[in-house]
Amino acid sequence: MIEAYQAQCQRRVDAALENLLQAPRGELQRLYQAMRYSVINGGKRVRPLLVYAACEALGGDPARADGAACAVELIHAYSLVHDDLPAMDDDDLRRGQPTTHKAFDEASAILAGDGLQSLAFEVLADARRNPHDAELRLAMIDCLARAAGPAGMVGGQAIDLGSVGHSLDQAALETMHRYKTGALIEASVRLGALASDGADERTLRALHVYAQAIGLAFQVQDDILDVESDTATLGKTQGKDEANHKPTYPALLGLEAAKAYALELRDQALHALRPFDEAAEPLRELARYIVARQH
Ligand code: IPE
Ligand code: IPE
Ligand code: MG
Ligand code: MG
Ligand code: MG
Repeated sequence: MIEAYQAQCQRRVDAALENLLQAPRGELQRLYQAMRYSVINGGKRVRPLLVYAACEALGGDPARADGAACAVELIHAYSLVHDDLPAMDDDDLRRGQPTTHKAFDEASAILAGDGLQSLAFEVLADARRNPHDAELRLAMIDCLARAAGPAGMVGGQAIDLGSVGHSLDQAALETMHRYKTGALIEASVRLGALASDGADERTLRALHVYAQAIGLAFQVQDDILDVESDTATLGKTQGKDEANHKPTYPALLGLEAAKAYALELRDQALHALRPFDEAAEPLRELARYIVARQH
């Protein structure tokens, strides 16, 4: 059932992204090519899925969540392009293809990332692409900006790079993961809830507890897969965390304890959804999927 839902949401967001990234004629063609290459390339689209699932859990219309779904995926794609640069994780393979700086060049990859980031906020601000009143659009921009910025993903990436070769204790590792990956996942759920036009404070708080748990679980599973999957399945080079001396959950706790922790976080997420009815089933399925996924 999650597969069908996933395929349907992927089609939705991919069509909207395709629309946004139409290349103009002329000298910007290469920039747009690099942006398209970085986005329209078979990502799992977990964050857009969370946007749609949260919107539908509150009885919202997914068509009103397309702008938010695109915006989170654009930020995510930009974060991957920059994460793969030689100055950061120095990776050659992403989503089964050469990374953007390998397929183009470093300057193009930096600019493609910059362009995708700006485009995300342009979409949220645009009443045609994000059909909500100005106050709600501003709340969405605020939500995504915080999650992407120094108190979110960028902050997490800075902690990540600053801790290479150091040993972190579990609290510090958790903080890093919550920032670099959790923040954008939390924003995805919140943006979906906002796009439903039906989110009260209590509901937002319950969804936040859910999102915090799956956000951390997502990166714990990413660390696990880096140890025990393979490059062909992952579409990115396996074993890079150990090679780059990254602090990870399997490195700190051992593989079995890291897996147990991921399952515990899934259960925390499911518990937070207890007050919700069957409309929240896709959110529940996504919590299960995030810790069971193989890539
Ligand atoms: C990978 O994210 C980077 C992390 C934040 C752990 P995904 O596993 O969602 O990557 P794609 O979008 O499917 O390629
Ligand atoms: C990436 O974490 C988090 C981002 C904000 C991009 P990783 O460095 O572990 O992601 P992968 O494994 O390269 O996809
Ligand atoms: Mg990284
Ligand atoms: Mg990386
Ligand atoms: Mg990783």
